Amino acid sequence: MIDVDAHAPEREIIARAAEILKNGGLVAFPTETVYGLGADALNAQAVLKIFETKGRPAWNPVIAHVASINAARELTTAWTDNAEKLGSAFWPGPLTLVLPKRDIVPDVVTAGLVAVGIRVPSHPVALALITALNRPIAAPSANRFTELSPTTAAHVQNSLGDRVDLILNGGPCDVGIESTVIDLTSDVPTLLRPGAISREQLMRVLGGEVRIAPHDTDTEGEARLSPGRTERHYAPRADTWLFDADDVATIVRATGEFRTRNSSASLAALVLDWSLPLDSEVHAIRMPRDPLAYARALYATLHQLDAEGYSVIAIQRPPRSDAWAGVHDRLERATH
Ligand code: TXA
Ligand code: MG
Repeated sequence: MIDVDAHAPEREIIARAAEILKNGGLVAFPTETVYGLGADALNAQAVLKIFETKGRPAWNPVIAHVASINAARELTTAWTDNAEKLGSAFWPGPLTLVLPKRDIVPDVVTAGLVAVGIRVPSHPVALALITALNRPIAAPSANRFTELSPTTAAHVQNSLGDRVDLILNGGPCDVGIESTVIDLTSDVPTLLRPGAISREQLMRVLGGEVRIAPHDTDTEGEARLSPGRTERHYAPRADTWLFDADDVATIVRATGEFRTRNSSASLAALVLDWSLPLDSEVHAIRMPRDPLAYARALYATLHQLDAEGYSVIAIQRPPRSDAWAGVHDRLERATH
């Protein structure tokens, strides 16, 4: 692990990291969403290592990260008006576009699908690394499969350790949850994964409807329409429960019963209302009431509670509005 200046990445450090990628190695690096586990996207052998290192099933495609719209166009056979609108409005930034792939994109990147996920990240370290390599970087989140995504270099170190050739430490991630993923290959653009960029924002820029992909349950090994939507995903080790503020009595009863059965159990709660009548032995953490600030804090908080060994994390369900969709999605997966 090596520290890198998040705003003005040191040239020698980036050159060293790019050299590792050029030689088919793996580099974990910060993006504005979460840390990515990067490999040269045009080197199938290198991308295969990502799958081995994460323990990621072969059916789950990875995102190709590029530095510009022009570089994105080189990976797809159909840079459509919709792609142009979204790319111009939200790149660099936390949005992934799924578009028909060109032959130069190895099948291992797309898990055999005909479309590739493309993103221009805004983090200076990510952009510098892509530019130094002068090729797209394939990168999923830098965690073992089904674990929480990392929002700090220490999270990467704890999850993947020596299995990565180099971890670039550029401090905590700003967005804190993974990018919004939108499929532009269907007649109506389809939201595959909600994120910091909301469905309303996408519809406003597109000037049309955005469909929400149905949740698919996990059918291992089968070809899938929207892969990566495994139900249990982004999960902490602790038992996690979601509860509504107006049903706090249930959670109070449940935590009481839980403690009776497990006297040594320690319980934590993520709350939005400080006034909830929780048991005084529950370690309550107040979360931000703004969805973007909540997203920024979420994984770091769950990682911390995991590290502290909490047995149960009870999470107050945030409001139901569109702006919270990304957070809801992660909470539902974490508590499934
Ligand atoms: O913010 C992010 O997207 C981070 C950073 C590192 O960029 N990356 C990330 O990658 O979260 P990963 O692999 O953990 O999640 C990528 C998601 C998965 O749900 C995957 O199935 C979907 O994007 N995806 C990637 N390529 C796809 C494709 N060709 N078709 C459909 N879905 C795709
Ligand atoms: Mg992931």
